[in-house]
Amino acid sequence: MATVFHIQATATPEFSYSLRAARAFLESYSESHPDDTIDTLDLSQDRIPDFLGMAARGKYRILHGEPHTDEEARAWKAVVAEIERFKKADKLVMSVPMWNFSIPYRLKQYLDIIIQPTYTFSYSPEKGYSGLVTGRPAMLFLARGGQYTPGTVAASFDFQRPYLEGALGFIGFTEITVAVIEPTLEGGPDVAEQRVQEAIKKARERARTF
Ligand SMILES: Cc1cc2nc3c(=O)[nH]c(=O)nc-3n(C[C@H](O)[C@H](O)[C@H](O)COP(=O)(O)O)c2cc1C
Repeated sequence: MATVFHIQATATPEFSYSLRAARAFLESYSESHPDDTIDTLDLSQDRIPDFLGMAARGKYRILHGEPHTDEEARAWKAVVAEIERFKKADKLVMSVPMWNFSIPYRLKQYLDIIIQPTYTFSYSPEKGYSGLVTGRPAMLFLARGGQYTPGTVAASFDFQRPYLEGALGFIGFTEITVAVIEPTLEGGPDVAEQRVQEAIKKARERARTF
């Protein structure tokens, strides 16, 4: 029995294209994997810890090979709880809007919490950096108001897809499938609806073998 972790990053779940596509994917996934569990982190309302002060100092302690003070250890406990939840899952699904050419700040906050030395990546002078979250597939649903077709000038502003692929790759993900839903604003509602329907159709198929 596998666990799928769905991180939904939309600020408006009631009218979200990325979430609609991810939900269609997960619905189809549940039909073909009835014994599996889906754990959802809704970043529009679920609380995640701040990564400031003692938590950030806790990271530097680890990087310098030093023990945590009591205060740092208390802040670090909340960080470890998030990492454990993330690593417990066998598969990852993310539904993510583009915000100012990148990702929404709450998802960035979440990634700043879980990307940690000795937990999700390691470093040694001999080997360099190695990801520790291996052997898991990831499926990303990315919604954008505009259109960032590869090869166009607009594509050079797409920091959403390369950032997420880079960050997940850094911690060990090698099998990352991306579904882009665009444009959700620029072409009007009919175009957006057509694009999300296309993504939903592909998502349902992909889910069966995920
Ligand atoms: C704060 C904010 C910033 C945004 N920045 C961009 C942007 O840089 N480029 C873009 O194409 N769309 C941008 N959009 C539009 C969203 O990417 C678009 O509405 C998308 O469909 C949102 O995802 P969702 O439908 O899953 O909620 C922005 C929307 C918001 C609310």
